[in-house]
Amino acid sequence: MKIAIGNDHAALDLKWEIAEYVKELGHEVVNYGTDTPESCNYPEYGEKVARAVAAGEADCGILICGTGVGISLAANKVKGIRCAVCSEPVTARLVKQHNNANIIAFGARIVGVEMAKAIVDAYLNAEFLGGRHGERVAMITEIEEKG
Ligand code: RB5
Repeated sequence: MKIAIGNDHAALDLKWEIAEYVKELGHEVVNYGTDTPESCNYPEYGEKVARAVAAGEADCGILICGTGVGISLAANKVKGIRCAVCSEPVTARLVKQHNNANIIAFGARIVGVEMAKAIVDAYLNAEFLGGRHGERVAMITEIEEKG
């Protein structure tokens, strides 16, 4: 898969670790995040990854900031994006199975490297279950379309 990754300054080291890990799993990684430790604005990177995923330029995305929250809020403003903050693997599996999340986010100040890898594994190995979950996701899209 082609996976878009994005981060702010709080998540620089974890971004490199996760990008490398995702490549080792056999995926292509496109880096939309900041590559320097200078303070920057997480919405910018949340939007970049979200636009890439929404446009089909990437199959899914991984966003990392201090908590995962700010960058996910920004990503979720882009039409078609379902970005879910995950701090452990069960949530990461369920956001794919039930919510068809097309981006996951987590916090470099919240999870360590091994937990982040487990989150990524759980998300990438899960499949959307469709059915009643598909109907609920369609309801989310309807809300989005109401504006
Ligand atoms: C940056 O200090 C921090 O606010 C950001 O990484 C993130 O946690 C915001 O939600």
